[in-house]
Amino acid sequence: GAMDVLSRPLADRTLFALAEGYAWLPNRMRESRDHVVRTRLLGRPAVAVRGPGAVRFFYDEGHVRRHDALPEPVVGTLFGHGAVHTLDGAWHRARKELFLPLLDTDHVTGLVDEVTAAWDEAVRDWRERSRTAPVVLFDEASVVLTRGVCRWAGIPLAAGEAEPLARDLVAMVDGFATAGPRHWRARRARGRQEERFARLVREVRSGEVEAAGDRVLGRVSRHRDGSGGVLEPGTAAVELLNVIRPTVAVSWFLAFTAHALELRPESRKRLRTGDAAYATAFAHEVRRFYPFAPFLGGRAVTDLTWRGEPIPAGGLVVLDVYGQNHDEELWGDPYTFRPERFIERPAGRDELIPQGGGDPWAGHRCPGENLTVGLLEALAIRLASLGYSVPAQDLTIPLRRVPTRPRSGFAVTEVRGPA
Ligand code: HEM
Repeated sequence: GAMDVLSRPLADRTLFALAEGYAWLPNRMRESRDHVVRTRLLGRPAVAVRGPGAVRFFYDEGHVRRHDALPEPVVGTLFGHGAVHTLDGAWHRARKELFLPLLDTDHVTGLVDEVTAAWDEAVRDWRERSRTAPVVLFDEASVVLTRGVCRWAGIPLAAGEAEPLARDLVAMVDGFATAGPRHWRARRARGRQEERFARLVREVRSGEVEAAGDRVLGRVSRHRDGSGGVLEPGTAAVELLNVIRPTVAVSWFLAFTAHALELRPESRKRLRTGDAAYATAFAHEVRRFYPFAPFLGGRAVTDLTWRGEPIPAGGLVVLDVYGQNHDEELWGDPYTFRPERFIERPAGRDELIPQGGGDPWAGHRCPGENLTVGLLEALAIRLASLGYSVPAQDLTIPLRRVPTRPRSGFAVTEVRGPA
């Protein structure tokens, strides 16, 4: 169980990796030859890799499997037991069918419409409240996204339910990489919400709750698994949460967007014009520049070799996500926030990997990437068009904290506009 993994003496680099945060692999990579790092993680030999070639190596199903690869503390907080993230082969493909339609334009437009409607409503409230007290954009965005995604997914929310649900969804993401109180808060949040959504799935199946077949709630409730049966209510709850939790996690990128607008005031002007190509480039640069997923891991299916480094069957293969998004060879000036780079040269499929690499249909790449980009484009334009003051606060983004964000959550006062 979780306790074993957390309390076991760690005779390897695991604790070190957590304490060093986002800088851990990039620091080792800097000392390495050829972008390969040999280390130990979770008691197993591990080889960390980066670069578009390494992405293709990592996402080859003949090389790397996900079953048994993730430590229980990550599964028990972030993804949930039995989640699509942990499946391989035919079972993975059958489950992934549930999520792949979310890449389509009509789904993206539908979600963006619901979230921007919730945003516009919230702005009216912020204008009032922010006259007397600061409004924290990270927290506010999480509630806006929760309202929008639930309406879009067909999940009923009673008055007053959005705030506690938003807090639980944020806690699940915030607590996956640490021991201690943040971790236990995440486990309690997951337990509570899995129970609630399993009940909802049972109510859909019994007809007590209506759920249209084209909505996420209806599709997950009726989805057939690799065995041909419907999902266990608990597993269906896990997968419902695997749509709404990461959507609400866009709050991290919204706080980073606010940070970027301060860092690069000229980008605010450009976003205000509504320039769609620029908004897309800005969304990509936020996802590239700011830290979120540090790395991804899987287990070697057979004995492998990468650039001369042997990886024994069962060993860990680690993809250096944060490092690749800040690789000098790929980006030239990786530590400069410069959306224009994506207008000058569109990124290749396996170059920009904040949400995984490879082909989402064939592998584990995030099926929510288009939703994320669509939300970021729309919200970045809205935030840039809003007037507000930024009171003195701690806007540093600690790289030792995973996941990280501006320490203050980005507080604003005197909200006015939209300009
Ligand atoms: C997978 C990041 C938003 C649903 C992933 C992966 C990453 C990621 C790194 C793992 C890829 C791999 O294992 O190879 C993010 C980030 C997001 C985001 C940073 C923005 C905050 C979304 C959204 C959805 C979503 C909006 C909603 C549909 C999923 C699912 C998977 C996944 C279901 C598992 C896919 C699989 O294992 O086949 N995401 N994601 N994500 N994401 Fe996202």
